[in-house]
Amino acid sequence: MVKLLTGICTLLLLNGCASHSQTLYSELGGKQKVEEIVNNFVTEIEYDPVILPYFEGSDIDRFRAKLEEQICMVSGGGCSYTGDTMEQVHAGMNITETHFNHTVDLLINAMDKSGVPHPLQNRLLAELAKMRGQMLYR
Ligand code: HEM
Repeated sequence: MVKLLTGICTLLLLNGCASHSQTLYSELGGKQKVEEIVNNFVTEIEYDPVILPYFEGSDIDRFRAKLEEQICMVSGGGCSYTGDTMEQVHAGMNITETHFNHTVDLLINAMDKSGVPHPLQNRLLAELAKMRGQMLYR
């Protein structure tokens, strides 16, 4: 009986380890999936009358590329982020909590469209939310 329990515990432990040996980036589906999510996100922004005006005059290809890098970095994909700091890039926009939350909703829509399971969505959002204070009211 003790042997059986030990065996079950070992299996559970190994399983636990296995599920954490992958990075969030690879669990999301790697480069191709992150590109898809970011493309969907840009489309969401393009159709959003509240958020779109913020991007007037922005280089959307740059935004796409830098956001892909950033998502790769925060999800353990091993990329280096080469964009500007979150303080710098959002300076002068006076982003409110309402606008921030609305933008997060657009990202959720984008991930839903890419079929990203909600637990993975939450893990990515938790990483991005760490930078929230660097964007609000700048
Ligand atoms: C989870 C939240 C957010 C993340 C992770 C994020 C991330 C980024 C990144 C990586 C860039 C590109 C930086 C670069 O070009 O060097 C960027 C640019 C930009 N973001 Fe955000 N952002 C967020 C929220 C917001 C919100 C709430 C707004 C406005 C309502 C906003 C408006 C912009 C605009 C307009 C640009 C382009 C700036 C330019 O053209 O130079 N962002 N953001």
